[in-house]
Amino acid sequence: MNQDDKKQAAAEKAVSLLPKGEFIGVGTGSTVNFLIDALAKIKYDIKGAVATSNETERRLIAAGIPVVTPAEAGRLPVYIDGADEINHSLQMIKGGGGALLREKVVASMADTFICIADDSKYVSKLGKFPLPVEVLPFARSLVAKALFRMGAEANLRVGFKSDSGHEILDVTGLDLLRPLTMEDEINKIVGVMENGLFARNAATTLVLGGNHGAEIISAR
Ligand code: 5RP
Repeated sequence: MNQDDKKQAAAEKAVSLLPKGEFIGVGTGSTVNFLIDALAKIKYDIKGAVATSNETERRLIAAGIPVVTPAEAGRLPVYIDGADEINHSLQMIKGGGGALLREKVVASMADTFICIADDSKYVSKLGKFPLPVEVLPFARSLVAKALFRMGAEANLRVGFKSDSGHEILDVTGLDLLRPLTMEDEINKIVGVMENGLFARNAATTLVLGGNHGAEIISAR
């Protein structure tokens, strides 16, 4: 199975875990795109979705799934999204697709978080993937200097603006052994809108696509 087959297997298995007749939160990325294709087949079972990016919103509407705002949905029983890395505690690095701010907002509204990923994303320690940090463009160099003082190197994602009009710094060199602490420390820097560590909003369940199909994994 190639990586896309594994993503698709995870996405299709995850559909069977969704509650019927409820609003759900839907993330962003290539794995989620497989999910949206699968949701199109069961669209009448879903009341609607909160989308974490303009691209996801466009795809959901094309699939015939009503898109609602966070305010219209209220709390969500389930948020479902991919990850760039996920550890054995189901803490994640996200934001490779640049949608991390809205993803964290929607994750924070949800009772449970189902992560869908191929097996290359499941790691024992987070940090090989550069950590995306979404910043207010006005404060970008101040944030980069603050991260430098924390021992990190921050590279601007050139030519990219998030759906909310912010820039992204891809950050390497941080020790992510304590993801909860680091998530909070980075968010204390003035000008940081959000960072891609999802430790406070870790996944509840991981649906991992591998060579033999998809398996459901809980936090260790
Ligand atoms: C987007 C994300 C994605 O979930 C993450 O980048 C994984 O993407 P893909 O499913 O394409 O591998 O956080 O902001």
